[in-house]
Amino acid sequence: MIVVRSSRLAGFYARPLADRVAHVAATATAPTAAWLSAGGGLDVGTADRMSENVIATAGLPLALGLNLRVNQQDYLVPMAVEEPSVVAAASAAARLVRLGGGFTGDADASIMTAQIHVDGCPDAQAAPAIIAAIEPALLAAADAAIPRMCARGGGARAVRTRVLDAAEGALVVEVDVDVGDAMGANLIDTVAEAVAPQVIAAIGGSALLRILTNLALGRRARARCEVSADAVGGDAIADGIARASRFAELDVARAVTHNKGVMNGVDAVAVALGQDWRAIEAGAHGFAAHDGRYRPLATWQRTPTGLRGAIELPLALGLVGGCTAAPGVRAALELIAVGSTQELAVVVAAVGLASNLAALRALASEGIQRGHMRLHARRLAGGAP
Ligand code: MEV
Repeated sequence: MIVVRSSRLAGFYARPLADRVAHVAATATAPTAAWLSAGGGLDVGTADRMSENVIATAGLPLALGLNLRVNQQDYLVPMAVEEPSVVAAASAAARLVRLGGGFTGDADASIMTAQIHVDGCPDAQAAPAIIAAIEPALLAAADAAIPRMCARGGGARAVRTRVLDAAEGALVVEVDVDVGDAMGANLIDTVAEAVAPQVIAAIGGSALLRILTNLALGRRARARCEVSADAVGGDAIADGIARASRFAELDVARAVTHNKGVMNGVDAVAVALGQDWRAIEAGAHGFAAHDGRYRPLATWQRTPTGLRGAIELPLALGLVGGCTAAPGVRAALELIAVGSTQELAVVVAAVGLASNLAALRALASEGIQRGHMRLHARRLAGGAP
C-alpha cells in the first residue's frame, strides 16, 4: 500500500534525530519502522552475498529531501550523499517552487536499447534493408528470450540499423525493449545475445559486443516549474539565475559544473534507492552531449514575474530487480511511495532541477561558500566530524 505523506515538515532539521526517526516510522510498515529504529544500514551478511571479497560495509547518511511537490503530489525523498549541502539545498529550492504550485513533469515509457555490434559485414550498405525485412522475426526472438517481461506487458518494440563504417563493414543493430518497472540491464543483455545469431545469419560478418547502451534516449524524464522573483530573493537574483543558466549554454566548462550540481540531487536519490547510479551518470552526460555539444541538462529563463525552469535527462531506474529487495532500499522505496518507474523518474528529475536552482541561486547571490560555511558551523555545533 502506498502512503502519501506531506513533504512540508517545517523545522524537521532542528528536531533531535530520534524525533525525526519516530516521525517517519509512525506511518511506515513494521519492517521499515524497525529498520529505521535500528539506525538503517546494511548487515554484513547481506553485503557478503552482494559482492566479492567483502570485509565490511561502507556508510553514508540517509536523509530526507523535503518540500517536494510534483504533479500535485507530495514526496518525501530519501537521499544518500556525503556532501553536507545537497539535501538542505534541494529541500530549500523545493520549498520555493512549492510556493508557485510545485513541479510538473512527465516521463517516456521504459524503453532500453540492446546493441549488437557487427563488423566484417560484406555489404554494410545493404544491411539496414535486410534487417528491416526480418524485423518481425528479430522482435519475436527478443520476446522469446524474456517471456516473463512480456507477460508483464513489456517486450521488444523496434529494431534499427546504423552503419558506422561501410568500408570496414562495421555497423550496429539496435533493439528497443520496454522493460516496465525494471532498470532492465540484464533483460537487455539477454535480448542482445539472443538476437545476434539471426542478425549475423542475415547480413554476415561477426557479432562482437552484445550489450545495452546506457544512453537511454528512449527513457527520458522531464520536469518543469515556475518560481517567482520574490521567492528567489528579488529581480536581481532572478536575473542572475537566468544569466548563470545562459553561461552554461555558452561554455562547456561551466555546463559540466552546472550538471554536476543537477546530479548532486539525482545521484543522492539514486544511491538511497539502490539504483545503478553509474548508469544514470553515464546516460545523463551522454545525453548532455548527444547533439555534438555538451549542454546543460537544466535551464532557467526569465518570465515577466520570475523564472521558468526545465530539465530533461534519461533515467534508467528500477522498482524491481537489482538490489531493490535489500532492506534499506525497500524502506527508501516505501518512503518515496511511487507507483511506477515513470513516476519515480519525474520525481528524480524534479530533485535535479531543485538542486540546480539552489546552486544557481546561491552562486548568483551570496556565493556558494557562505551557505556551505553555515551548514558546516551547524554540523560542528552538533559535534559532527
Ligand atoms: C557543488 O557540489 C555543486 C555546484 O558547483 C553546482 C554549480 O556550480 O552549479 C555548486
